[in-house]
Amino acid sequence: MYTDKVMEHFANPSNVGELPDANGIGEVGNAKCGDIMKMYLKIEGGIIQDVRFKTFGCGAAIATSSIATELIKGKPIEDALALSNKTVVKELGGLPDAKLHCSVLAEQAVKAAVSDYYKRQGIEPSLFVIAVKDGTSHEEHICCGEGGNCS
Ligand code: FES
Repeated sequence: MYTDKVMEHFANPSNVGELPDANGIGEVGNAKCGDIMKMYLKIEGGIIQDVRFKTFGCGAAIATSSIATELIKGKPIEDALALSNKTVVKELGGLPDAKLHCSVLAEQAVKAAVSDYYKRQGIEPSLFVIAVKDGTSHEEHICCGEGGNCS
């Protein structure tokens, strides 16, 4: 069901935990499955200097969080914002259809954290960040982008 890469990131996830000096923190949730992902970013000079995550959710959510942190660490903010759930899935070697929404959670968590960073800088996030759902209320169902048929 899962690729070796997914299992590897699930068993030994990268960048797990909190970041005490984070200056961008995003939390998103999926109302249907109840899983929650929290992303911590330390941004300096426009670069993601450090990143950590805490995910309370399924194995796929942990794997997608882990690979997302690897893909954005050391990269410019613009690269983090350009990270799509499709890239996350591709880097993991694929995910079952029913688990595609877990990858959307990773994309949204990164965007939510960058949004928070902009807010703290006194910058209106919507100027740079699109499609960030407010996951904190857990009211919004984040679909897979494939017609809203994800579970
Ligand atoms: Fe909910 Fe994976 S994030 S089942």
